Amino acid sequence: MGNKIDILFIGDIVGDCGIKAVEEKLPTLIEKYKPDFIVANGENAASGKGLTEAEANQLFSFGVDILTSGNHVWDNWKSKPLLSSNEKVIRPLNYPPGNAGRGYTFFSLDDAQEIAVLNLQGRTYMQAIDCPFRSADNALKSIQERTNIIIVDFHADASAEKVAMGWHLDGKVSAVIGTHTHIQTADACILPQGSAYITDVGMTGPYDSVVGLKKEIALKRFIFQTPFKYELATDDVRLCGVNITINPIDGKALSIESFMLPEPKKS
Ligand SMILES: [Fe+2]
Ligand SMILES: [Fe+2]
Repeated sequence: MGNKIDILFIGDIVGDCGIKAVEEKLPTLIEKYKPDFIVANGENAASGKGLTEAEANQLFSFGVDILTSGNHVWDNWKSKPLLSSNEKVIRPLNYPPGNAGRGYTFFSLDDAQEIAVLNLQGRTYMQAIDCPFRSADNALKSIQERTNIIIVDFHADASAEKVAMGWHLDGKVSAVIGTHTHIQTADACILPQGSAYITDVGMTGPYDSVVGLKKEIALKRFIFQTPFKYELATDDVRLCGVNITINPIDGKALSIESFMLPEPKKS
């Protein structure tokens, strides 16, 4: 660590094959980036729908420190007790008060330096929950009293809403990392006031699919416009993420690098 902190962020882990990809590929990433801290989005870890103690414990055993989530965390009834009992698993802060779990958490590095992880969810094309922008502002008042190293998982559908959040939080947090759409965007950057940003970090799961769903089923849903049973795909599994390097003095990001393992075939 010393004069920099490296943080790995792994995108939406989908099903058992996504969990296996983390198990297989994380050691290589740890060797390459030597991260001080690893955060992953686990909203789809339990067969695509939610996250239970079993998947969370597996991911923690591989070296993940904090798990974030999103809309799909509520699809599995076993997610709620996990959210209520484990401070290392969070869900979007801006769901109505009274829901299980918490929207941000703190992690202590060896030298007592704290890192905060804040999970927010967008509203465009998603549930009409509380305003993520005002929720972020309110949470930052408390978070910034403890640390200026702040990683935000913004779980949102519309790229415009994600870009807007990037501008809203630029200079106030270390990184705004988009999740939910499962497709990695090519816009990883450091914003002018020093926050790392990417619209979507991408999926850790099967790419022979439509964002994780078996492609034959997804096509039927689009073509026939009626429900077809949800089934996860299993092939062409890749891991997507970013490594963010942060200056621990001011919490600003020094660099962000996105990766997809293995890289997609382009010729
Ligand atoms: Fe997801
Ligand atoms: Fe989602």
